[in-house]
Amino acid sequence: MPSDGAALLPHVSTLRGVKDLTPDVKLFNIEIDDPQVRERFVYHPGQFAFVSAFGVGESPFGITSVSYRKDGLEFAVRKVGTVTSMLHELEPGAKVGVRGPFGNYFPLHDYKGKDIYIIGGGIGMAPLRPVIRTILDRRDDFGKLVVLNGARTPNDLVFADEFELWSEAPNTQVELTVDRGNERWKGRVALLPAVVKELAFSPYNSVAIICGPPIMIKFTLVELKKLAFSDEQIVTTLEAKMKCGLGKCARCNVGDKYVCRQGPVFTMAQIADFIEQY
Ligand code: FES
Repeated sequence: MPSDGAALLPHVSTLRGVKDLTPDVKLFNIEIDDPQVRERFVYHPGQFAFVSAFGVGESPFGITSVSYRKDGLEFAVRKVGTVTSMLHELEPGAKVGVRGPFGNYFPLHDYKGKDIYIIGGGIGMAPLRPVIRTILDRRDDFGKLVVLNGARTPNDLVFADEFELWSEAPNTQVELTVDRGNERWKGRVALLPAVVKELAFSPYNSVAIICGPPIMIKFTLVELKKLAFSDEQIVTTLEAKMKCGLGKCARCNVGDKYVCRQGPVFTMAQIADFIEQY
């Protein structure tokens, strides 16, 4: 573990690839320049890192790649502010900064043998993708996998080019829904909580992992509770305004928890008292 001072310094890195995921989300593949630092940068599904556009600033992003594949750090970046707008301007070969990894992660070893329901809304799928990839790489370790992905429109479904691969895995189901269809969309048009109700996920020996806008988390939670999921069986990853990532600046609290240090991954049992304020 680097010292706090070292953890505040970004590692100079190179943008290796940029891919459009949706009209306002790009996937960045980034390689840390120093081979020794790159080797030591081991992370787990659910952790996050800060990416900086030099001279502009930095923002935290859930890491959307898996560490053991060693094929670059990936981040899904939605264009919403100054830093992300600058990042969207960059071309492969550009230099960026990376610092991290920070936060806790999904305890996948605890989920062995269980059915896993992954519920992602919009860009909330980004921190869930490494969970899906890890489960698919170790398919026999887990029970049924259901990935439920919702977005505002068909064009806003991130990782759309990976759905087919995911759904071809054994004992794996991919369910999609959008708030508003278009002329080409033949799939479901419904809000995510309604689809959770429709699919009637079983709470028996299972875990539900949710990530998305706060309003979606709240209403999905209601449906999961109606299906008799306990607070311990529902896991989420929270977003918060972050500055340091080290539990020092007090910018990221939700209730009495520092999202950067005690999260971003929480069971509902840990945050039930605060989720209404989120
Ligand atoms: S980001 Fe500074 S305390 Fe969490």
